[in-house]
Amino acid sequence: MRNLAIAAENVSVTYGAGHTGVRALDDVSLRFRAGEMALVMGPSGSGKTTLLSVLGCLLTPDTGGVSVMGQPVAGLSQDKRGVLRQKNIGYVFQAFRLFHSLNAVENVMIAKEIAGCSRGEAKESALQALESVGLADKRRLKPKELSGGEKQRVAIARALVNDPPIILADEPTASLDGVSGGQIAEMLMRIAGEQKRLVVVVSHDPRIVEFGSRIVKMQDGRVIEDLEVN
Ligand SMILES: Nc1ncnc2c1ncn2[C@@H]1O[C@H](COP(=O)(O)OP(=O)(O)OP(=O)(O)O)[C@@H](O)[C@H]1O
Ligand SMILES: [Mg+2]
Repeated sequence: MRNLAIAAENVSVTYGAGHTGVRALDDVSLRFRAGEMALVMGPSGSGKTTLLSVLGCLLTPDTGGVSVMGQPVAGLSQDKRGVLRQKNIGYVFQAFRLFHSLNAVENVMIAKEIAGCSRGEAKESALQALESVGLADKRRLKPKELSGGEKQRVAIARALVNDPPIILADEPTASLDGVSGGQIAEMLMRIAGEQKRLVVVVSHDPRIVEFGSRIVKMQDGRVIEDLEVN
């Protein structure tokens, strides 16, 4: 596959053990490439968040393996795995996960500073990232002074600030009304299409379907459908 960004091969995850164990992922193989906006859909408990955690190297599967940008993740030390994540993956969550005491630009800068940049450099990149999500004028506001959609745009700016080839988003529109949810979905679609990144979005929001280039449907830990739609 050209521009392969993430490959998961025969991945299984079981939580717990014995007869109380839950098989959250059951032999899942998927390949994703740059430029795709893949929507992972399916009922509650079907394994979507678990899949995203495995793709994002936050969770090690019991069997099978994941490669990120051509690099197999299995066997990497904790530190090397951290560097691989930092360089290649930006995360966006339903609950925004912003720091309440920091303003918008500081919330974005922090991801850059953790990656080892100076304060000055971090600030410059953070302002650019906020500009790219249309929030330059709100850079000094704290999360409580921002709307839900604006908070999510700060979170997207933070995910983009290290310029990763991959963005993973878990239910990014679930806390938002229809209008702001649509704006966020459209923004993620542009990040995939125009910026040629891989964007994987977990959602059960049917309104988001029109923004995807591919739809992966999950049920009981398995992929039951995988369609290119645009
Ligand atoms: N940390 C955990 N410990 C035990 N079981 C878990 C854990 N996380 C998830 N599970 C179980 O694994 C299965 C898949 O969960 P997962 O969170 O991946 O589903 P999901 O598709 O994201 O659901 P939702 O749409 O409700 O977010 C579910 O049966 C869930 O109860
Ligand atoms: Mg989930």
